[in-house]
Amino acid sequence: MKTEIYQPTDENLAYCASLIAKGEIVAFPTETVYGLGANALCPESVKKIYAAKGRPSDNPLIVHIASSGQIDFLAASVPEKAKRVVERFMPGPVTIVLPKKEIVPDEVTGGLKTVAIRMPSSEIARKLIELSGCPICAPSANTSTRPSPTTAKHVYDDLNGKIAAIIDGGECEVGVESTVIDFCAEGKVRLLRAGGMPIELLESEIGEIEVVKNSKVALCPGMKYKHYAPTAEVYLAPVGESEKIIAAYDRFTNNGKKAVIVALDGNREKYGTRTVWSAGKDSRDYAHNLFALLRRSDDEKADVVLCESVTDDGYGLGVENRLGKASGGKTL
Ligand code: TXA
Ligand code: MG
Repeated sequence: MKTEIYQPTDENLAYCASLIAKGEIVAFPTETVYGLGANALCPESVKKIYAAKGRPSDNPLIVHIASSGQIDFLAASVPEKAKRVVERFMPGPVTIVLPKKEIVPDEVTGGLKTVAIRMPSSEIARKLIELSGCPICAPSANTSTRPSPTTAKHVYDDLNGKIAAIIDGGECEVGVESTVIDFCAEGKVRLLRAGGMPIELLESEIGEIEVVKNSKVALCPGMKYKHYAPTAEVYLAPVGESEKIIAAYDRFTNNGKKAVIVALDGNREKYGTRTVWSAGKDSRDYAHNLFALLRRSDDEKADVVLCESVTDDGYGLGVENRLGKASGGKTL
């Protein structure tokens, strides 16, 4: 199959929407990462996503909508706090998990009785959903286990020949996936995946959100799998311990390995003449740049990527989670 890349003109969006309506799968930009979309109400189309990504079929997909009116169509009930999240933060980089209605196929939810719903703030994404006339389920548009794609080129590198179309909306603004929160547990709201919307912001609207740290069980089915891994070995250094990064860099380099350091701009000069890739000025920038840097390590055939940690507040929690997965837990 030839994979075409389309600019997001009205005409091209209408064409790509018609592909989705016909049961094809199309990669499209959102403000978080690129998604690989199918008609969420058509099991045969949904199966194509799992095949193209090589994704385990027990890992459920997020259903993307263009207007909050579509929530009642998908969810059996919407608790008061979920309504407030919808009111204040949607569209935006947040996903809510609610009890599902019959109409949502098991292929989308991995057999769960709940459905994850998100309204992207990307206008290209919302227009595509609107024009296709159906909710669009979409995982990140990468090959399973690889870093999520934040440009059309990343998608092409992974899925060329496996999908019909990629809509090129440029670089994603946020850079990590949406924050996923669950409203299905009795009496509490739980964080299932940290991401592009800080939980402090969500808590300012709905009160405490339970964060289960170091849980042995993956709350979000997808989080139990190997994830975000480039070919290079990734190591994580504790916050502020740049001397550990320097020691590791020198050790690997002396052993003939190509090592690179990922660091915040404020720490740049600590590393002297060593190779440093900028994560940006703060954890929000780090979130924006992280996946692209991991993919760059493949393009430039690095053997080792030594990453600074950030504190786990605000945007940092999502960054730390992705770094933990990409490194497979290897710390310096
Ligand atoms: O920002 C995003 O969320 C991106 C863009 C494309 O919208 N999508 C994304 O999809 O990250 P994916 O499939 O890579 O991650 C979805 C996560 C998985 O960890 C999955 O297990 C979880 O959401 N999930 C989906 N439905 C769920 C459900 N009903 N209950 C619990 N977790 C669910
Ligand atoms: Mg993903």
